[in-house]
Amino acid sequence: MSSLLVDNIGELVTNVPAAGGDGPLGLRRGVALLVEAGRVVWIGPARYAPAADRRIDAEGGAVLPGFVDSHAHLVFAGDRAAEFAARMAGEPYTGGGIRTTVGATRAASDDDLRDTVHRLRDEAMRQGTTTMEIKSGYGLTVADEARSLRIAAEVTAETTFLGAHVVPAEYAGRPDDYVGLVCGPMLTAAAPYARWVDVFCERGAFDADHTRAILTVGQAAGLGLRLHANQLGPGPGVRLGVELGAASVDHCTHLSDVDVDALAGSATTTDPTVATLLPGAEFSTRSPYPDARRLLDAGVTVALATDCNPGSSYTSSMPFCVALAVREMRMTPAEAVWAATAGGARALRRTDVGALRPGVRADLMILDAPSHLHLAYRPGVPLVRQVLHNGVPQCRL
Ligand code: NIG
Ligand code: FE
Repeated sequence: MSSLLVDNIGELVTNVPAAGGDGPLGLRRGVALLVEAGRVVWIGPARYAPAADRRIDAEGGAVLPGFVDSHAHLVFAGDRAAEFAARMAGEPYTGGGIRTTVGATRAASDDDLRDTVHRLRDEAMRQGTTTMEIKSGYGLTVADEARSLRIAAEVTAETTFLGAHVVPAEYAGRPDDYVGLVCGPMLTAAAPYARWVDVFCERGAFDADHTRAILTVGQAAGLGLRLHANQLGPGPGVRLGVELGAASVDHCTHLSDVDVDALAGSATTTDPTVATLLPGAEFSTRSPYPDARRLLDAGVTVALATDCNPGSSYTSSMPFCVALAVREMRMTPAEAVWAATAGGARALRRTDVGALRPGVRADLMILDAPSHLHLAYRPGVPLVRQVLHNGVPQCRL
């Protein structure tokens, strides 16, 4: 069995504080890491490193777990650059542009959609992302939602059925009928390709009753729950997500004290509901950022993700989100890096990614920088020099 040693590591982020590492990131120095059969099998003092078939010299760079991007919408066609330009000139974001992308997506061939998914997945990987959740939600017919998920499943196990993204034009004024379709034939067609079900619970999209109905039948079909909640205004989404045991409620931009208390209460349970913050969306819609400090200080488990989509956040870059979280949301660099790695893993209820310790998947990145601090300190700079996914180097050195 071929083995691979990563050594000359400047700083190793383990996310395992109990390992004797420093702080919540479990920082370790002077260590090397051994990979076999796609798994981390040993981490220890570099001077005791076992012999290996191959070696990667990290050249004093920081080594981190690969980013876990737990929220992305990659199955779409077309772009909405003009809508972005209009927003930068003062237009508000309402989510209404979703229907533009639905039209383009329905008209696209499978191969066009596949090319976009692969291109964005590869783009994300070059920036350190090794686990990526991908949603449907721009098809909104039985056939188009099923094919979106089938294509997403070609590149990730973390696929999410978001038939309840908006009510499509052909159901205008008949939301109950559309929810019936989502809960019936669309769910049946989508479920074989999906691990999760999601709803855009927001004024102008789906209300609390619709959201509860869809999540309940999705759960009965064996899917885990996640939710777009409290993005554009206050609402019932976060509380509903916690009540139903969702793995994550995403956006969390407009929260009441009751919402924060509900999330904090869930954080002490065995299966907490994570608050996933998506600062790329606030950046790209020129909106106020979520109050990350309020959530962290209340003890809520926080994740960071890109929300990569052609409307509200067309970035695949987790380093960009880390930098935004630090500069604009007052997260410390350590909190932001944890949220983008271990936090994302919690949001997907995964224990095999988001940390580096013996037994986990060998998903990691090597930076052209000595510490994780540089991800926020050097915004916009391509610092990721190498990525291992399942132990396989992805970039040419
Ligand atoms: O997460 N909020 C709903 N869905 C996406 C936006 C999709 C779009 O504008 O195309 C989001 O921001
Ligand atoms: Fe989203």
